[in-house]
Amino acid sequence: MPSENYVFDIERNDGKGSIRHDRFQVPKKKISTVLEGLTYISENLDGTLAFRHSCRMEICGSCSMSINGKPRMACSTIADSLNSEVIRVSPLPHYEVIKDLVVDIDPFFEKYKSVKPYIIRKDEEEHNKELLQTPEQFKLYEQYSMCIKCGLCLAACPISGSDENYIGPAALAAALRYNLDSRDQGSNVRLDITGGENGTALCHYAGECSEVCPKDVDPSKAIQILRRSGIAHELKQFFRREKDARR
Ligand code: SF4
Ligand code: FES
Repeated sequence: MPSENYVFDIERNDGKGSIRHDRFQVPKKKISTVLEGLTYISENLDGTLAFRHSCRMEICGSCSMSINGKPRMACSTIADSLNSEVIRVSPLPHYEVIKDLVVDIDPFFEKYKSVKPYIIRKDEEEHNKELLQTPEQFKLYEQYSMCIKCGLCLAACPISGSDENYIGPAALAAALRYNLDSRDQGSNVRLDITGGENGTALCHYAGECSEVCPKDVDPSKAIQILRRSGIAHELKQFFRREKDARR
């Protein structure tokens, strides 16, 4: 007979190298999602359990963690869908742990910022102008603009796990998002960054990033497109230098 409880097996980490596993019985009828299970534990069984969450609807991107061995959002992971009475929860891989399930996401955002994820205009004056865009122009980058910066893709990426300097899938997808934006004039600046030694060249196209992305951003596809644009960009620069040298 199936049990009335889920067993939450949670990796507890004090952030100083001490790791233990705690097991909690959570009544199935009290919860639907894994996040609700963690909240039940926090409110009824152990108030010291640390985890992040906010929106509870897969928008804020803060409840990322490893659930039964896969990076997922706790708020949109239905406990029943895991087909297991034991739910193993641990912090996201490839991030430093601060406490329990809370990881340091600063390096993720530093990488994100490094690709200049904003509209760049050559003329400062133009910042004050309305920049019109057609629905067709918006469609070109819409998919890549859906990123909620949850960091799951970086946790799933084998290259990010072995090379901390790799810019990573979310930041590269953001670079493409702005390069495809008709209002932007900064693609050459970004292609210099994404085509550098820590950029698209490190990707092995394992595709794990796209598999775990909750918003179907498909960072793996973005990296392939970005790499092709990077090659065209480098060739253009090469011929420009040759032309200048002949003058
Ligand atoms: S690309 Fe997807 S998995 Fe990566 S941070 Fe954005 S939403 Fe999350
Ligand atoms: S709580 Fe906001 S994405 Fe899960």
